[in-house]
Amino acid sequence: MRLIVTDDHAEMSRTAAQLMAAQIQANPTTAAVVATGNTPQQAYQELARLVRQGQLDVSRLRPFQLDEYLHVPESDPRSLFSWSKRAFLDPLQLPLERLVRLRGDGADSADACASYDREVEAAGGFDLAILGLGPNGHLGFNEPPSEPDAPTRQVALTPTSLASNASYWGELEVPTQALTCGMRHLLAARHVLLLVSGAHKRDILWQTINGPVTPAVPSSYLQQLPDAVVIADRAAWPYL
Ligand code: GLP
Repeated sequence: MRLIVTDDHAEMSRTAAQLMAAQIQANPTTAAVVATGNTPQQAYQELARLVRQGQLDVSRLRPFQLDEYLHVPESDPRSLFSWSKRAFLDPLQLPLERLVRLRGDGADSADACASYDREVEAAGGFDLAILGLGPNGHLGFNEPPSEPDAPTRQVALTPTSLASNASYWGELEVPTQALTCGMRHLLAARHVLLLVSGAHKRDILWQTINGPVTPAVPSSYLQQLPDAVVIADRAAWPYL
C-alpha cells in the first residue's frame, strides 16, 4: 500500500483524477468500480473537466456500481444508482446503460448479486477500484466483520453506517439493508485508489494503514496489496 498525503481536499481530488485519467489513458476499456459517497465527488468533477477539455476519452470506459440500498426504486434520489448517474455518468457524458448495475430494486437479491458477479467475471475482474472509506472501515458496504473473500451479497447496515448515511438524506429514512460488491472483487482489482478526506476519518484511516489486518476493519486488507494507493488529505492524515 502506498500513501499520498495532499494539503487539502481539492488537491486530493486533483491527484485522484490524474491517477484515474492515467489508468484510463493506458487502458481505454478500463473496467472500473466507482464509489458514491461525498469523498470522490470533486475528483469526478475534475475527471469530467479533463473530458470536456479533450484531454481524456472515456467513451470506452466500463463503470460498475459498487453498492446499492435494498428495495429503493432507482428513481428515488437515495438510490446509489441515481447518485452514480448524478455524480459520475452525467458529468462524464456516459449513457446510463453503460453502468453495470447492482440492482437492489428487484425481487431476488441473490439473483441480482449473481448477475453482477457474472459481469465482473466476464470483464476479467476490475482494472480499477475507486473507493471511499466508511467510518467503520467498510469498503462499499462490506460492513465489519467482512472476510477478504466475501462475495457480492446482501448486508444489514451497522448502526455506524446508518448514522453516517443519515447525513446524506436529511429527513428521508436511511434504508437498513444493502447489496455490496464483495471484498473478493475489490481486493483482486489491478489498481485500487482509496480516497480519504477529513478529520472525522483520521482514526479509521490510522487503523486501515497501521492496525492489525482483520475482518473487524475490512479496509485493513488493503495493507496486503502492495500497489493499492491511498490518497488522503492532511486533515485525515496529519502525521507526516
Ligand atoms: C458509504 C458508501 C461507500 C462510501 C463510504 C464513504 O456508506 N457505501 O461506498 O465510499 O460510505 O462515504 P463518504 O465518502 O461520504 O465518507
